[in-house]
Amino acid sequence: MAILNRYGIWNNKGGVGKSTITFHLATRYAEVNPNVNVLVIDLCPQANSSMMLLGGGTIGETNVINLCTAATPQTVVGYLSTVIAGGQGGALPNPDTFTVSVNAYNNNLTDNLFLLSGDGNLEPISPAIVNQANAPALTPTSQPWVWIHNIFRAYADEFARVHNNRDLMVFIDTNPAFGIYTELAITASDRLLCPVNADDSSRTASNAMAILLHGTNPPHPIYGAWTFATKAGQFHTHVPLIHLLIGNRLTQFEGAANAFNALSDASIQALYNIYTANPGYFTTRPVATNNIQDFRTNYSALLRDFNTAGVVTAHLGNRLSQMRANYYPVHGQQVQLNKQRIDECLDAVDSILARI
Ligand SMILES: Nc1ncnc2c1ncn2[C@@H]1O[C@H](COP(=O)(O)OP(=O)(O)O)[C@@H](O)[C@H]1O
Ligand SMILES: [Mg+2]
Repeated sequence: MAILNRYGIWNNKGGVGKSTITFHLATRYAEVNPNVNVLVIDLCPQANSSMMLLGGGTIGETNVINLCTAATPQTVVGYLSTVIAGGQGGALPNPDTFTVSVNAYNNNLTDNLFLLSGDGNLEPISPAIVNQANAPALTPTSQPWVWIHNIFRAYADEFARVHNNRDLMVFIDTNPAFGIYTELAITASDRLLCPVNADDSSRTASNAMAILLHGTNPPHPIYGAWTFATKAGQFHTHVPLIHLLIGNRLTQFEGAANAFNALSDASIQALYNIYTANPGYFTTRPVATNNIQDFRTNYSALLRDFNTAGVVTAHLGNRLSQMRANYYPVHGQQVQLNKQRIDECLDAVDSILARI
């Protein structure tokens, strides 16, 4: 049985919908593919997608806090510290010691969904991870930078090996800032899904994303040598391909009719310029990309109608397909969802899943 794909959900910008989108893609993928195991690795210290998966709201929050405060945290931090303490070349720990079965915490979700939870302690331990990655190589064959950067790739490989009765699909939620744990998340991903909003900072973030992954040409005379891009090139570690830009919250200022233009104006041109210079940064498509319209068709997807229904459902840790027209409690308020909006939102999620 194989790893079908490893999708990192990343943009170098906060609040664009990474965690909410991770939640819906993973839960819906697991629902419509009952014979595939779905693994979410939450490499964001805010642990928002973990909270949604483990029940949403205060229930999800409490569950995540309990995992983080266990003697051996059942989280990304527990896994990282155990592997690092074992040293390079040490036997990998059993992934099941750290991974939770989501359904055991939240029976709204299917039993083929697994989580390596996010953990706020990623922040305080990150200097220690950086030190390990930058430690001098003590033997001709040891490469601390490669070992540390590959930790979550190796974790997913090991999870697939232990659960080899089924194929595995991996979704990785990320922190926007390009700290060490985001570098680990990026190295663990084969493909990137990049949520973008309709604003200038999304355009700037799209440019920054390509530079963080691949560097500038020419490299900066001083900082160029320090970057992830330079080291990934030097050590031949994995750099994921950009697969899709996902337009989210586009209707916030513009109204639905202008959503498509808003996405094109904000981010498509920036990414298309990068594509024309470096098509190898992107996944390939059967239909050639000869102009910006082709690029938009091939590499962007709109999460249309992903508004209140998507946000409320994620807050409740539920599946869109299970939601009924009703009033739902969110932060002490009653929010009304009608069936049409729920169905539109589910269609929007399915339209993205059809392309991954
Ligand atoms: N399409 C949308 N419409 C309205 N609110 C949204 C939408 N997508 C996300 N949100 C809300 O925006 C906030 C940020 O979303 P989140 O998924 O946490 O983003 P990120 O992980 O990129 O920081 C959350 O409060 C979420 O509920
Ligand atoms: Mg997030």
